[in-house]
Amino acid sequence: MRLTDRATWKALNAHSREMVDARILDLFAQDPQRAQAFSTEACGILFDYSKNPISAETRRLLVALAEDAGVPAQIAAMFNGQRINVTEKRAVLHTALRNRSQRPVLADGQDVMPGIRAVLERMRSMAERIRAGVARGCTGRPFSDIVNIGIGGSDLGPLMVTAALRPYGSPSLRAHFVSNVDGAHLAATLAGLDPQTTLFIVSSKTFTTPETLTNARSGREWLVTQLSALAPANLIVENHFAAVSTNLEATAEFGLIPERVFGFWDWVGGRYSLWSAIGLPIALAIGFERFEQLLSGAWEMDEHFRNTPLERNLPAMAALIGIWHIDFMGHPTHAVLPYAQDLKHFPAFLQQLDMESNGKSVDRSGMATNYLTGPVIWGAPGTNGQHAFFQHLHQGAQVTPADFIVAANPADNVPGHHDMLLANCIAQTEALLRGKRTDEVRAELKARGMQSEELERLIPHRVFPGNRPTNTIVLKQLDPRSLGALIALYEHKVFVQGAIWNVNSFDQWGVELGKQLASGVLEDLKAGRPGSGHDPSTQRLIEYVLKSRDAPQGDTGL
Ligand code: F6P
Repeated sequence: MRLTDRATWKALNAHSREMVDARILDLFAQDPQRAQAFSTEACGILFDYSKNPISAETRRLLVALAEDAGVPAQIAAMFNGQRINVTEKRAVLHTALRNRSQRPVLADGQDVMPGIRAVLERMRSMAERIRAGVARGCTGRPFSDIVNIGIGGSDLGPLMVTAALRPYGSPSLRAHFVSNVDGAHLAATLAGLDPQTTLFIVSSKTFTTPETLTNARSGREWLVTQLSALAPANLIVENHFAAVSTNLEATAEFGLIPERVFGFWDWVGGRYSLWSAIGLPIALAIGFERFEQLLSGAWEMDEHFRNTPLERNLPAMAALIGIWHIDFMGHPTHAVLPYAQDLKHFPAFLQQLDMESNGKSVDRSGMATNYLTGPVIWGAPGTNGQHAFFQHLHQGAQVTPADFIVAANPADNVPGHHDMLLANCIAQTEALLRGKRTDEVRAELKARGMQSEELERLIPHRVFPGNRPTNTIVLKQLDPRSLGALIALYEHKVFVQGAIWNVNSFDQWGVELGKQLASGVLEDLKAGRPGSGHDPSTQRLIEYVLKSRDAPQGDTGL
């Protein structure tokens, strides 16, 4: 049955017409317990969703929709290793990577846990040997810098986590991330580095991604050129490179020795892979024990997710509120606003997690959806965003629901700062809720002595509509365990939404066409002639850059 034909969907549709003009402040006035009743806590995380235009009836209907869509059974199917990635016929078992229990996890009847534990042990050994200066570069010097080369899920997860856990890092082993095929990224990163003390990790699930292979080859060339007087090329590559991939043939072809290659499995999606050996840069930067704490935090959220009734289930409620906004209130974008500078890459990480997973417009049976699915995700850390795009959140013509994320305790003890950060975060959600009425603006301006004509002219510009929906997510501290739980919360939120929308959240065919066409355009650029078969705009763009570039570029080896 189509989602929109379900009685539970229709009931929500009817209910949304009753709620469309609801004022959240009135809902608070009607229920003195609302702040508690519309928030839930698990794994050291408070999820306060009371500042949304939803009533107890809305929540009841949303939970009914999730049950009707078979969310509990779909959760079980994922954890039990069923092939829920239907287009690629794969299981989805990133949760097994952080299974801290002794329970087996079966994929095709095989327990995947021994393989996972074996790779974790190898990661532990490598992280310990490098951090202790036992494993060294080819000239005998300990490593000071790690350069992760990867893109998408092979970049954003470790990049985001390493930045988020900066206070746990060590100044003697710095992590850098090169993803963009723009040579500026590699050049700027390598500019300050000493090749004798630099370790590259090439992270690519497929080991076929052109950007990653191009950067890896250029990194190899930089090392070999710089160190050629000191060691033979094969020794340089063996000592200064590691790889994380499911494609072990390709890593061997690149010149990597098996001891430096860390495998993972086709049942780990790229955007869900930071828990696998793709997390090696994290383990190197913060130490393996803390990497394990990250896994533990995620596992605690997994346990909460699979064992808690939907109305008290953090990821499920986050998902349902999102569906309410997107499909019933008509707000298809979602802002993520971490009040933590160390979470500066969190919005970009979530963009891939959410938009690559649920940016789909056909359901699992291939039928076009007649409802909106994955939202546009965007955001930036507060308080910076307040001085940039918050104008739009407060007074823009579109309503953008937002998640505010903050830790009660600071990452660094710089006196006076954290209370200011907390105050801003909390006050913004209050301002978005309350707004400012005409009479309040008038009284304020009068009190400042403004004359009536000027005052009346300004009032409409200074009124805030309020009633803008927000969730507030409070961690005790941004530490490995709570970060693990936070990431898992969002992973499962995306899962529940995909489960209800009946889309396959685990493929990403939408990224393929551009890749295919890029190789044709690259041929044209390399040949130095405008190609054929392009549309007129594309054709002209190729001609224009061919005319405008100073000299033909070197062969990328693709
Ligand atoms: O093109 C998109 C994508 O396939 C992502 O899903 C993935 O995370 C990224 O490219 C990198 O892929 P790989 O790890 O295979 O290099």
